[in-house]
Amino acid sequence: MAAVIEIIQGDITTLAVDAIVNAANNTLLGGGGVDGAIHTAAGPALLGECGSLGGCETGDAKITGGYKLPARHVIHTVGPVWKDGKQGEPELLKLAYRRCFEVAHQHGLTSIAIPAVSAGIYGYPMREAAVIALSAAEAAREQFPELQRIIFVQYNAPAQQVYQEAAARLNPALLQDTRANI
Ligand code: APR
Repeated sequence: MAAVIEIIQGDITTLAVDAIVNAANNTLLGGGGVDGAIHTAAGPALLGECGSLGGCETGDAKITGGYKLPARHVIHTVGPVWKDGKQGEPELLKLAYRRCFEVAHQHGLTSIAIPAVSAGIYGYPMREAAVIALSAAEAAREQFPELQRIIFVQYNAPAQQVYQEAAARLNPALLQDTRANI
């Protein structure tokens, strides 16, 4: 059964899933935004493990434990900084999402929660970022049938609305449930 795709509003650090995705930077040594929230909730041991990973290329993804988070793992990915959309940003954002699903598959994970990577401090326009995220989830549903839940978590209602509109345009059947039924 292909994964259920959900779009919810909430704080990703509260979700009890196999993995939450962190929108990190190339050092993997923490930052603001969702990166800061995840490190704060996970505790200092997360930074310790991240420090041993040797950073992360933009478009790549690396997994760690979840420590004090309710999630078992954190998949750290680095999205592109938005410039003008013609410097390879869409391709790098697609790659980041694809790598997150590949890493989840490699570790046998079945539920993953994902924030709007690059759409905050990195400035990626939310609508374009949402289409890339949802398209990557559609592809992952086909490629990794063991995936059961893909949850896109937006920190505020306007962002959730953008994701829901993007999903409706992409494929109305895509959206199974937008309630926060974690
Ligand atoms: N839960 C869910 N989403 C969140 C949370 C949270 N607790 N906190 C922030 N967000 C949302 C933001 O509102 C935004 O829509 O996550 C999205 C991604 O924003 P950023 O965290 O700013 O990530 P990004 O745009 O990829 O920038 C990455 O910011 O924090 C630094 O170290 C990080 O340098 C890196 C850069």
